[in-house]
Amino acid sequence: MILTSERWRVRRLPIRGESFADDVRSGLSSPPRSLPAKYLYDALGCALFEAITELPEYYLTRAEREILQRESDAIIGAMDRPDEIVELGGGSGAKTRLILAAALRARGAVQFHAIDIAEATLVEASRAMVNDYPDLTVLGYAGDYEAGLEALRLSGERALALFLGSNIGNLERADAGALMRRIRAALRRGDGLLLGTDLRKDPVVLEAAYDDALGVTAAFERNILARINRELNGDFDLTRFRHVAAYDSASGCVASHLVCLRSQDVRVEALDLDLRIFAGERIHVENSYKYDEAEIDAIAADGGFARTKTWYDAERRFALSLLRAS
Ligand code: AVI
Repeated sequence: MILTSERWRVRRLPIRGESFADDVRSGLSSPPRSLPAKYLYDALGCALFEAITELPEYYLTRAEREILQRESDAIIGAMDRPDEIVELGGGSGAKTRLILAAALRARGAVQFHAIDIAEATLVEASRAMVNDYPDLTVLGYAGDYEAGLEALRLSGERALALFLGSNIGNLERADAGALMRRIRAALRRGDGLLLGTDLRKDPVVLEAAYDDALGVTAAFERNILARINRELNGDFDLTRFRHVAAYDSASGCVASHLVCLRSQDVRVEALDLDLRIFAGERIHVENSYKYDEAEIDAIAADGGFARTKTWYDAERRFALSLLRAS
């Protein structure tokens, strides 16, 4: 337990698996080089991501907010007025509040379970939410999705889980199916999952969303090398890397790479690791998968859910699907 008050509590869950140092070593040691996208989100990375959500090209956040503003009451109604809301990776909770407010209007009192790896953000969001909503109690789980779902204990009548922001798109399709099964295992038959997915569309629109004119996304992606410099005492020359986002319509994926512009020798002191990276070599940083309706149905079925209803923004760029645990 790290912090508690009468109406909110945050538990720090044990961290399992590889560390940043281990992952950097194995990802960079031999081509094709890659770094896990989860390491994009240190404090600076979180701030840069918040800035991305404000960019004109990055329509995802605005489109999802538009749907939630319009449909939160309908979503809560369609779910038989849940008294427990669970969220995976909600961050500051700006969009979550739209659903929480609708649930509170329908139920009077609501229990909110928030699972998030970013502990400071989780503590801040929990405190702010109980201040703003007198009939809300918050249980925070500071850890990864797996640990959070294992620690989750539902005690109310009906739960609705939220997995918003197209966060599922950052997982390989097979890993997304596995996570859906984990979410299903933490719920009961009849509980719901509200899944936000960005939709397949014109490559020009998608590539602009991941390579904005201001260069914020490039800074967000390059920050992973800056983080290696900061935390592992590396000496990457960031000016020698260009961020490239390319959409492949066959796989439905925007792949983000850092391309080396001029050969360089890099030393990562804390790992006692020396690398020669040649001009033209790429470091893979992130995948952002896009979905169509058939793919949403497939992933729902794979996870043990059935799709009840899908809502879209006015320009039909983004989908919010309500899935029932079967
Ligand atoms: C958090 N996630 C859903 C974002 C996405 O759209 O893949 C991360 C992101 N990367 C570059 N821009 C936004």
